Amino acid sequence: MSFTTQPSPVTRPNRCQLFGPGSRPELFAKMAASAADVINLDLEDSVAPADKPAARANIIRAIGEVDWGRKTLSVRINGLDTEFWYRDVVDLLEQAGERIDLIMIPKLGRAADLYAVDALVSAIESARGRGRRLGFEGIIETAAGFANVGEIAAASPRLQALSLGAADYAASMGMQTTGIGGTQENYYMLAPKDAGGERRPVWGDPWHGVTAAIVAACRANGVLPVDGPFGDFSDDEAFRAQARRAATLGMVGKWAIHPKQVALANEVFTPSDAQVSEAREILAAMTEAEAEGKGAAVYKGRLIDIASVRQAKVIVETAELIAG
Ligand code: COA
Ligand code: MG
Repeated sequence: MSFTTQPSPVTRPNRCQLFGPGSRPELFAKMAASAADVINLDLEDSVAPADKPAARANIIRAIGEVDWGRKTLSVRINGLDTEFWYRDVVDLLEQAGERIDLIMIPKLGRAADLYAVDALVSAIESARGRGRRLGFEGIIETAAGFANVGEIAAASPRLQALSLGAADYAASMGMQTTGIGGTQENYYMLAPKDAGGERRPVWGDPWHGVTAAIVAACRANGVLPVDGPFGDFSDDEAFRAQARRAATLGMVGKWAIHPKQVALANEVFTPSDAQVSEAREILAAMTEAEAEGKGAAVYKGRLIDIASVRQAKVIVETAELIAG
């Protein structure tokens, strides 16, 4: 056990991040009117190279003109391996108003990536006298990002969240899949023979390793871990299953790449009434036990102790954050 305490992440809801291409400004007002906690206006892979300048101009205008309410407003810039990213940062910070909360940096590979962007952002903020300090979020979606996720999560005090980008991650890892998240046909083990002599496939989760690595790196550094896109927006149940696994492993939210995914993400990442009342009952049972001088108690036939109090508090505090 380390003697240092785990830092707390920023206190704001992050159940759903709704994306839209910067080249489709007609979507921006609809995004602002959605139930997503975070809006991500995209300059990266949903915008064709020839459209980058126009998309930047659209986004800069919309940051000032659209009523974004209380949403967290983020712009995904291009990766540091492109010729576009510096212009994204310079134009945004020199021309857009202060309503922008975050920039999202894709394809993070090492801590120095964040250092480089931080240096540029800090210089412009100071030169332009910007009063509001810009926050960062990033995407872990390469082999290098997975390998270095610990140093990346610790790299900048501006960093608020890290998402898993399943498609680029799969490509970078050389995985034999074309799906964006979810079940992969060839990722299974065979169960022992059943009564009829059959060995049925048991599906595994090919995203599990990187998901757990991101959650651990984020939690150790007070950063929010987020599940990225789920590509098949016609399959609600598969989205829910992917989101529930991510929530079970400690992620706080998920991207939506189509508006119909927003309600699904909010549903999964908002603790249910049943979860909240059970957590409150556990807290009450432990308060009672402690009053009797006991460190452990029995709740519905199972052991609860001080660790159960910490688990229950995660649920209650998440519900209170969302309600507030
Ligand atoms: N945000 C808000 N509203 C959106 C939206 C989005 N990302 N995508 C579509 N809509 C709106 C449409 O304008 C339409 O509105 P209407 O009912 O008022 O006409 C409605 O939702 C239904 O849209 P639909 O026709 O099903 O979608 P589409 O064919 O216009 O677009 C996608 C589908 C996937 C191309 C589009 O949703 C999209 O670009 N998503 C984001 C992609 C992205 O940003 N990727 C980068 C991150 S991985
Ligand atoms: Mg990507």
